[in-house]
Amino acid sequence: MTPAPISRRRALVLGGLGAASVATGATGWIAANAGGATGGRLQPADTGAALAQPPVLDSRGGRLEVELTAAAGVRLAGRDTAALGFNGTSPGPTLRVRPGDELAVRLTNRLDQPTNLHTHGLRVSPQANSDNPFLRVDPGTSFDYLYRIPPEHPAGTYWYHPHHHGMVADQIFGGLAGALLVDPPPGQGPDVATVEDRVLLVTDTTLDSGGRVVEVGAMDRAMGREGELVLVNGQHQPVIPAAPGATQRWRIINGCVSRVLVLRLQDHPFVQVAHDGTFLPGPVPRDQVVLAPGNRVDVVVTPTGPGAYPLIAEAVDRGDMGAMMGGGTTTSGPLTVATMAIAGTPVTAPPLPATLPAEAAPAGPVTGQRQVAFQMGMGGMGGGGMAFTIDGRTFDPARDDQMITLGAVEEWTVTNPSPLAHPFHLHVWPFTVLALSDGTPPVGVPQDVVLIPARGWVRLRIPFTGFSGRSVYHCHILDHEDAGMMATVNVRG
Ligand code: CU
Ligand code: CU
Ligand code: CU
Repeated sequence: MTPAPISRRRALVLGGLGAASVATGATGWIAANAGGATGGRLQPADTGAALAQPPVLDSRGGRLEVELTAAAGVRLAGRDTAALGFNGTSPGPTLRVRPGDELAVRLTNRLDQPTNLHTHGLRVSPQANSDNPFLRVDPGTSFDYLYRIPPEHPAGTYWYHPHHHGMVADQIFGGLAGALLVDPPPGQGPDVATVEDRVLLVTDTTLDSGGRVVEVGAMDRAMGREGELVLVNGQHQPVIPAAPGATQRWRIINGCVSRVLVLRLQDHPFVQVAHDGTFLPGPVPRDQVVLAPGNRVDVVVTPTGPGAYPLIAEAVDRGDMGAMMGGGTTTSGPLTVATMAIAGTPVTAPPLPATLPAEAAPAGPVTGQRQVAFQMGMGGMGGGGMAFTIDGRTFDPARDDQMITLGAVEEWTVTNPSPLAHPFHLHVWPFTVLALSDGTPPVGVPQDVVLIPARGWVRLRIPFTGFSGRSVYHCHILDHEDAGMMATVNVRG
């Protein structure tokens, strides 16, 4: 298809939540939301099919060179749709690299609006053509990214997605996301040996009966949109085949724009081994795992006897917007995301190691402390809308919000006076959560997204080491980020 160019008006609307109604019909892949929540939706045609893995592109000899083309027209939920993908699939290919590798990505934009690429969680330079969120790749053009992955980079689960300010939520909701795995160094076996190793990239979207992405209104953007269709690797309620005793490592990625995933597997406790790409000190049994948008959790599942066991996403209370907006913000649930189907001959799997190669908490003195406030309130762009700010300001890519000296180890207290939980995300420099206002026990290892409780706070320790350059921190409810809940850090060496 030949998409129409983005209109100036639409670009403005996408950049803010102030307008009461949004322009429609300016793109080929977004459809006006007519008919309400039940009318004219795409019906999945693949419910219960075996879970597939996205295509894998693996590095060889220290280098992975890939072309990623972002375009409309992918298969989702077993149907041909006008949703977005990389190289014709959603999720896009899984990129597998190793510490010390070079990852060269030629990104080609065949969308009708600008885009770019962010390697979420990867510890790489934010400068030039590396993980630089300020870049803009216009429609019809290509850009060559080069990411140098440090030799000491942790082996784990990361992901990639567009990050062009103002359009991030629409493009991820549209289907643009993929897994990015760092494997152990060459010659080293897996840190956790399991019989199966699977990516479960969870996304949500809403598609009309013609397979176009349904446009969301200002209220949905303010709350953080949640799609009516929850997909795993682009599939609706897939079946995950399993044999009794045959352990499976699930690399669960929350690629949803706003949805918080609280997941449990019927009759099967998870054993969590990693969070946001870094190993825990040892395996931790958990009845459920919680993933804010952007988070990754690696769990090991040990299938028991024959049967079908649903993977359930629970209802989640993301805060109470009643006072402000006249509505609640409970994620719908419980809903079945996938089903593990156990059959066949029992298998003896390698035992889990008692300890894992967790990263030590940053040592050394704290060199600085900062307070940061994620705020939302009335009176946003255009008047009458909502304002989404950090320290009272909306995003300005030209402004340095935090000036930091390379090597600093800082403690940040990030407050959230609003009645809605916001996931805090910082690029490039992972942080350790020291405490949360609601008493949630911190994970204890470096991470890159943490949910700031409604009317609460988190306290973080952030070593600004390894890389200098400018990057961003923001709310990973991507509608909020697009509306301005993002700010810059400038780390100078
Ligand atoms: Cu992200
Ligand atoms: Cu937010
Ligand atoms: Cu970001």
